[in-house]
Amino acid sequence: MKDNQNGPDENLNRRDFLHKMAVGSVIGSGVMAFAGIIQLPLPKVFNEPPRLFKIGFPTDFPFNTYKLISNKNVLILRDDDGIRALSAICTHLGCVVTLTTRGFQCPCHGSKFDLDGNVISGPAPKALEWLKVGMSPDGQLTVDLNEKVKINQTFAV
Ligand code: FES
Repeated sequence: MKDNQNGPDENLNRRDFLHKMAVGSVIGSGVMAFAGIIQLPLPKVFNEPPRLFKIGFPTDFPFNTYKLISNKNVLILRDDDGIRALSAICTHLGCVVTLTTRGFQCPCHGSKFDLDGNVISGPAPKALEWLKVGMSPDGQLTVDLNEKVKINQTFAV
């Protein structure tokens, strides 16, 4: 005797379940494939911060004192020669240097640089980079991370 007291669909539950799972899998795969196909022609854009940026007006920088633009890792100094911009990125492995009384020191491996960015002690292989300073039409200074300049090349203001 067949035990079919819970209804006529009792024996088909397992089969129905597997059927619904198979249909669901096919539909899910189709949706994922369609989403992937739609994204193919879209450009993959990396939103990199601009490499040429404004840093403020010349008077924003105290005389003879380095000021760190921390979100850009650039050190700015205004003195009698003009405005200079040094990269605060250590030339060894890329840590951000800190200002000391004699210059800059790298917190990672101890490299020391003088106030012009020259290496005093390694392991940094070369001086901190000097960056091009310019002025935008509104009178604000600009720094271009793409343009290195010679040491002691300042922007006259
Ligand atoms: Fe600066 Fe190594 S990263 S000394």
